[in-house]
Amino acid sequence: MADIESLACVEDYRRLAEKKLPRILFDYIDGGSYAEETLARNVEAFGNVHLTQRVMINVANPDTRVTLFGQTLPSPLICAPVGFAGMYARRGEAQAARAAKSLGIPFCLSTVGICGIEEVTAAAEAPWFQLYMIRDRDWLATLLQRATKASCRLLVLTADLQTPGTRYRDIRSGMMRNLGPVGQIRRAFEGMLKMGWTYDVFLRGRPHSFGNLAGVLPPAASFATAWQWIGANFDPTVTWDDLAFIREHWKGPIILKGVMHVDDARLARDHGLEGIVVSNHGGRQLDGGQASLAVLPEIARAVGDEITVLMDGGVRSGIDVVKAINMGARACMIGRPWAYALAAGGQAGVARMLAGLQAEIRTAQALSARLTFS
Ligand SMILES: Cc1cc2nc3c(=O)[nH]c(=O)nc-3n(C[C@H](O)[C@H](O)[C@H](O)COP(=O)(O)O)c2cc1C
Repeated sequence: MADIESLACVEDYRRLAEKKLPRILFDYIDGGSYAEETLARNVEAFGNVHLTQRVMINVANPDTRVTLFGQTLPSPLICAPVGFAGMYARRGEAQAARAAKSLGIPFCLSTVGICGIEEVTAAAEAPWFQLYMIRDRDWLATLLQRATKASCRLLVLTADLQTPGTRYRDIRSGMMRNLGPVGQIRRAFEGMLKMGWTYDVFLRGRPHSFGNLAGVLPPAASFATAWQWIGANFDPTVTWDDLAFIREHWKGPIILKGVMHVDDARLARDHGLEGIVVSNHGGRQLDGGQASLAVLPEIARAVGDEITVLMDGGVRSGIDVVKAINMGARACMIGRPWAYALAAGGQAGVARMLAGLQAEIRTAQALSARLTFS
């Protein structure tokens, strides 16, 4: 098995994650919806954008910092909300949050994290918190109270999971259904083949319940039960009018994640949101749509001077980050890269992968003479 020190790029972490995780979990992270066209497009889009090499300029000290929502960050990177991460490594969200904190990188906790808000806050102070709109508004208000009490810095409202997109890989793997006895034995056997995961996560990483959904989901709910609950309780009727409810219960900055159209970006600005994430959920929701990077420049031109424009989808290197910034993003969120690194090497894996991205950003800045992001 590869030693963490020999991993050079996100693809290396991905391959190691594939070796370490039960297939069902690897496919859950790696896959996208339907034919996975948008997932592929997100990554390909970066290959079609170029940086310009410059020479004979003093590039000894590129400034990698950005200021977002009043906070100066060492690099334009944020760990995107990724659900179920406590199944990729023992208490995965807490490990990843600690790794991110050690590098000054914000960590955004998903509504459907295994570790709850309080556990992640105890590990790494003031994470960002990602919210899915749930039909039960009283419960939602309680969740926002928890996020406030835990001093979460910022709310990321994800708007593009009005209804879950279909992921063929998850149907094939049985991720989204409660299996019969034969299927359960097969799944247990597949798990046992990954001895490290079985020991570290399955045995020592309990409880495997969803920390933020305590009270609405039974403690030992399977993924399938949780997914059915999500299908039944995520609110497809949400409109701009519902922002008033969120504002009433959340006093910090709000950024809207899942904006892919310039009109939606303008509406987000007009509704007083502090920022947006240009995102198609990493190609896991609407398939057949554009790459995030493809729509970024128009959106950044329209609203980038007035609200903070972040992007995600397909970022796999520090070079990609510099490309995204050149095209109008203030910073990038990364999803799969930290999930792969977590599965590959826990906290140390995430810290190493993030430090690698930071070093690549700096080098790309120097070699293209993009010496500051302000
Ligand atoms: C395994 C997985 C789980 C995810 N869970 C969530 C989630 O709970 N909430 C959310 O807003 N986005 C979720 N996303 C989307 C990410 O926040 C992000 O938009 C996406 O991963 C960016 O694309 P990338 O993976 O190419 O970096 C998830 C993505 C992955 C890969």
